[in-house]
Amino acid sequence: MSSSIQQEKQHAALEAVKLIKDHQVVGLGTGSTAVLAIHEIARLVREGLEIKGVPTSESTAALARELGIPLVDINSVDHIDITIDGADEFTRELHLIKGGGGALLREKIVAAKTRQEVIVADSSKYVEQLGKFKLPVEVIPFAANYVLQALRQLGGEGVVRGAPFITDEGNYIIDADFKRIADPVSLSIQLNNIVGVVEHGLFSGLAERVLMGEGNTVKVFLKQNSTFTL
Ligand code: A5P
Repeated sequence: MSSSIQQEKQHAALEAVKLIKDHQVVGLGTGSTAVLAIHEIARLVREGLEIKGVPTSESTAALARELGIPLVDINSVDHIDITIDGADEFTRELHLIKGGGGALLREKIVAAKTRQEVIVADSSKYVEQLGKFKLPVEVIPFAANYVLQALRQLGGEGVVRGAPFITDEGNYIIDADFKRIADPVSLSIQLNNIVGVVEHGLFSGLAERVLMGEGNTVKVFLKQNSTFTL
């Protein structure tokens, strides 16, 4: 990864962590950009910030424990105040593709329970239209072949990830190439209707903002379709 991309991730992560307030329940994302935010949160916790974290994956939970961030069981909280997570692609309308790291199921559950879902990304993640990044679809292993066929009927050529890769919930991931996703909301509904699909990486209407590192600045994309630069 180029050092400028790494810096963009770092800038976005640091700006996002500034949004966290004392005593909040904080969703902790998965992926290399979220990891940078988690390190910054840990630094603030060492300085006295009082928060409780809800991890979106086993790897994030392990990192948070190692860094001394107190964790809470997701089922023991009514809501999550703010979550900082990454994305594989995003559009100006805040449609996202997530799941490149294989954690999309817990990420989506955490996002659904979150009041302020903040996405942190470098500038390579911005797209006019989703679909260059293959869409991760989490499936019950027993249904993998059936889902591959069903995806093909929807125009998506899929491959089971890894040898296979097993998610934190014991499922497989199919990476599906839809080329261009013109209507993420309707594709999302179609995917949810395939028996054997547990969840997929299209996130629409969940992010409150995207913080995108761009050179030495951070561009903010808001849900209301407006942008500004920090
Ligand atoms: C994890 O399952 C993904 O949704 C990540 O959030 C996504 O892959 C972004 O990761 P990076 O920050 O490493 O690009």
